[in-house]
Amino acid sequence: MSHTASLTLDGTSFELPVVVGSEDEKAIDITKLRDQTEYITLDSGFKNSGATKSAITFLDGEQGILRYRGYPIEQLAAKSSFIEVAYLLIYGALPTLDQLNTFSNAITRHTLIHEDMKRFYEAYPAKAHPMGVVASITCSLSTFYPDSMAPNPTWEQVDLTIIRLIAKFSTIAAWAYKNSVGHPAMYPKNNLNYVENFMHMMFAMPTEDYEVDPVIANALDKLLILHADHEQNCSTSTVRMVGSSQANLYASTSAGICALWGPLHGGANQAVIEMLEEIQNDGGNVKKFIDKAKDKNDNFRLMGFGHRVYKNFDPRASIIKTACDQMLNKLGIKDPMLDIAKQLEEAALNDSYFVERKLYPNVDFYSGIIYRAMGIPTDMFTVMFALGRLPGWIAQWKEMIENKEPISRPRQIYTGATMREYVNIADR
Ligand code: CMC
Repeated sequence: MSHTASLTLDGTSFELPVVVGSEDEKAIDITKLRDQTEYITLDSGFKNSGATKSAITFLDGEQGILRYRGYPIEQLAAKSSFIEVAYLLIYGALPTLDQLNTFSNAITRHTLIHEDMKRFYEAYPAKAHPMGVVASITCSLSTFYPDSMAPNPTWEQVDLTIIRLIAKFSTIAAWAYKNSVGHPAMYPKNNLNYVENFMHMMFAMPTEDYEVDPVIANALDKLLILHADHEQNCSTSTVRMVGSSQANLYASTSAGICALWGPLHGGANQAVIEMLEEIQNDGGNVKKFIDKAKDKNDNFRLMGFGHRVYKNFDPRASIIKTACDQMLNKLGIKDPMLDIAKQLEEAALNDSYFVERKLYPNVDFYSGIIYRAMGIPTDMFTVMFALGRLPGWIAQWKEMIENKEPISRPRQIYTGATMREYVNIADR
């Protein structure tokens, strides 16, 4: 097979290297094109551009395949734990029992956040969206741990920053919720595992005993695994891009949280429930909303449907749908939103508009229904996504540093005014 591609521009031919990945993915390397010609390549929204070579996550959108470090998502969701998956993503291999215990214990020991940071929460308005709170407090960690800001940190420093970030993020997230409902912050408990501890900080009250429900803890652990990485998506690309300027891990992650917030990305899980509520309040006419989504004069989109990469099915959505049914059954919960969601899914899957455009339910379509059943409020859903995605962001940031990748700096085609003379204000 040829390992070059040829490109003819204005009658001159250029040979461009072809890069082949371990799963036979192919790319034309245009890095040197600029040295030889004055052309750049244009690909708005990076729909067909590779930003990096990465050994972390493999995704085949046509076949609905997702693997972390080679391991199928289905096996990890069924057999692993979120903390084990975090280790796998960040360090590249499944941990031994000793490695897992060391990693997990270190995270447990760093869950407290500096007492001064507690005061930050008091300053936010009561109705502050928790994503805004979580993003800014995550960035503020850099001010408490200035060693994280060294542009060329030692690997020991990087490892400590990683542990601190994973550990403190769950506390930061849970306290954002407590603050939003005016409840006292609950301190972490070291006898609980990561997910149990998060649930304790979210749901326990100083006034009464709280026991973690194992059905909910297992479902949450699985959800976090499913969200843990998704190669070069919007928020991950943001983390890598911000990190490429040698910004520290806390700042880079905070930027990723902001990118995740939007309703076309992680914010879709909140938007899905709001859409289902809107359909319910409107009388449950699913067809009306399908028609709205198809109407090009209407901005309404079916939230939780469609994906930039998956054009067959989203394997995470399939696992979540089953987990959702199982959890609601085990807890004996009947949620009318689930019925509307199923009607909507069926109607869309049988509608040529959605079939032709290969629009299937994505990870966010059913996750909100599970979060609701867990007692998590709607505006915390995207924070839950961030909690899950954190190890992926860290792994991708670390890989970018290890690969010594250059600062990200795209080019553009300028379409503005050509040179013109300044006009004094009196003459305009
Ligand atoms: N409802 C109705 N039409 C849609 C939808 C939708 N949810 N998604 C895409 N389309 C149409 C779109 O109008 C376009 O139609 P046409 O070809 O006639 O102009 C066509 O499908 C292709 O859409 P696109 O916007 O060019 O596709 P994209 O790859 O740029 O966008 C997406 C992908 C996920 C942003 C989009 O499908 C969407 O807005 N979905 C709803 C939001 C959502 O659920 N986001 C969560 C994604 S999964 C979680 C994550 O990893 O972020």
